Amino acid sequence: MKVPTIKDIKNLKGKRVVLRLDFNVPIKNGKIVETMRIDRAMPTIEYLQKKKARIIILSHIGKDATSTLKPVVQYLNKSMKVGFVPDFRSEAAHSVVDGLPEGGIVLFENLRIDKREEENSLELAKLLASFGDVYVNDAFAVSHRAHASVVAITKYLPSYLGFLIADEVKHLSLALNPKHPFLFVLGGAKFDTKMPLMKKFMKIADSVFVGGILANDFFHDMGLEVGKSFVDTYDFKLTPLLKKGKIILPSDVVVKNEEGKKVSIKKYDAVGTMDSIVDVGPETIRTLKAQLAKTKLVVWNGPLGYYEGGYDKGTIALLKAIAESKATSIIGGGDTAVVVDKLGIGKDLTFVSTGGGATLDYLADGKLPGIEAVMKCKLR
Ligand code: 3PG
Repeated sequence: MKVPTIKDIKNLKGKRVVLRLDFNVPIKNGKIVETMRIDRAMPTIEYLQKKKARIIILSHIGKDATSTLKPVVQYLNKSMKVGFVPDFRSEAAHSVVDGLPEGGIVLFENLRIDKREEENSLELAKLLASFGDVYVNDAFAVSHRAHASVVAITKYLPSYLGFLIADEVKHLSLALNPKHPFLFVLGGAKFDTKMPLMKKFMKIADSVFVGGILANDFFHDMGLEVGKSFVDTYDFKLTPLLKKGKIILPSDVVVKNEEGKKVSIKKYDAVGTMDSIVDVGPETIRTLKAQLAKTKLVVWNGPLGYYEGGYDKGTIALLKAIAESKATSIIGGGDTAVVVDKLGIGKDLTFVSTGGGATLDYLADGKLPGIEAVMKCKLR
């Protein structure tokens, strides 16, 4: 089936476009820490503006009703004029939209102020749809959620996909039909959510490097001492996965001794009872670099160490090595994308995804509810 994109929308001049974006960006002390998701949505906004559409932007921010999109509106207003509607359920919301000039833009406050958003409520979807003539989903990062502004709304408006989603799909698909040798790197935590991904890439990748808390889980499952390290809880066995010979685990680790707080490098099987594994060691990085030299495609999701606690050396070293290598590189979003931004090496990587959970789900299933809903929309 042909993918319906915004280029397929006829006569955009004066049309009201309800545009779902993911402006769920990290905010500290009222300031945006990392703007990648906003910046990557710009081509779609600018295209619609150039075509003189009236643009009504919807987004969530944070997990619930407590966060506000006000810092995002301030950021956007540095480069374009964007109005703000504090409550999309008010009469005022309709007058603001009715008064939008051609090429005008308004952003509605955090959709999660209304709990019907996460319930995929038809009632809320109908209300949101009433502001527009067409709907565009360009919120890749939330397209794994069946929410009212992502899925239910496609029942009420002719629906299309934006440029950012098209770009995500194009690049992430490279991992689903890979060039070989293909190295898959999986870090971070939560084996229970990452297991489908692990199983899938055990089949299609040539090597799978496991870092972060996921590596601690392997060590724990292998009966090795992990001391005070973080480990996940899950109800399956990891050791059978090792039999295929594809998995590479850290051969050395950085540990923090919880008594003396001393930080040292140890072999993976020499961790003490009071140690906490916080990063991969230098020998592991050397192994990964050697692996990269013979890799044509590398796909990576999740930090290799306890990044939030400042143990980011392994993650940074691997990112730099990937940037310097000749391999095609696809980097999953979330924490890894924040490091890419900090190092300013985005241009040396083939693609950095804007998604966190959405990227994982897309890689595991090859589809997402938000994208499927647009594809199936009967109103076009
Ligand atoms: C994300 O940051 O992964 C998306 O914005 C989705 O957010 P959620 O996990 O709170 O639904």
